Amino acid sequence: MKIVLKIGGSLLKGGVPGPLVRDVALLSGRHSLILVHGGGDVVTDLATRLGKEQRFLVSPGGIRSRYTDRETAEIYTMAMTGKVAKNLVLALREAGVRAVSVSGLDGSLILGRRKKKLVVVDERGRKMLVEGGYTGKVESVDATLIDALRSTGYMPVVSPVAVGEGSIPLNIDGDRAASAIAVATDADALAFATDVDGLMMEGKLVEALSSEEAKKLLPRVGFGMQKKVMASVEALEGGVREALIFSGRSDAPLSRAVEHARCTVIS
Ligand SMILES: Nc1ncnc2c1ncn2[C@@H]1O[C@H](COP(=O)(O)OP(=O)(O)O)[C@@H](O)[C@H]1O
Ligand SMILES: [Mg+2]
Repeated sequence: MKIVLKIGGSLLKGGVPGPLVRDVALLSGRHSLILVHGGGDVVTDLATRLGKEQRFLVSPGGIRSRYTDRETAEIYTMAMTGKVAKNLVLALREAGVRAVSVSGLDGSLILGRRKKKLVVVDERGRKMLVEGGYTGKVESVDATLIDALRSTGYMPVVSPVAVGEGSIPLNIDGDRAASAIAVATDADALAFATDVDGLMMEGKLVEALSSEEAKKLLPRVGFGMQKKVMASVEALEGGVREALIFSGRSDAPLSRAVEHARCTVIS
């Protein structure tokens, strides 16, 4: 099976969880794995230490996003590609995996379209328009570089940075980047390792649902999980067979998710 695994930033705060990395190493013998990572907190931490206070915007639908100006885009790229991705590569190496980290900039892997204006709400709930800055939407994925790495036995680790018009770096959402890569590489499964067991509704884990059912639930799902459900639906519409959302903190988490044990399966 070809699996695109997105490792959430929620799992990367205190380093990469050992059981997850060892499980990835184990499964890489049987399956073809492509990794994508998050890491928003690492970006905020580095920016703050560099004296660049981060601002977060909230959309009318309650979606929170980083306000990314040119300096923030540079810090974002440094933290994601220089710190988070390289730590993952080292953790994988320790588990016996030869991994190579690349971003959407490398080999023009991910092209993004700059968001021109963003609709946001202020503290008093009033709507306003602000400059989109260096935030982008995934426009296309050219998987040539990923295929080249895989064909020579390397596991690709992809950072969520896209290249925009005028060859500028754009901050893109890791969940959406993972789904676009899953579609572009004809993956069988898109797997999200996060810090909860899966999609919870009324306090219970939703174990299996169709993409139609997932779409209907979207308005009632909180931020963070909502992006994963949306990205899952996009992947399924692009031909990926199943999306898995599971806790990356358990033992052998990916092996269990692939067997549909205690996780959310959207198919
Ligand atoms: N209905 C829901 N079911 C599960 N998690 C939810 C739900 N609504 C909101 N969440 C939140 O989504 C979070 C996962 O998303 P996020 O914090 O972005 O993780 P990651 O860093 O892995 O992308 C959970 O920790 C939880 O707080
Ligand atoms: Mg997230």
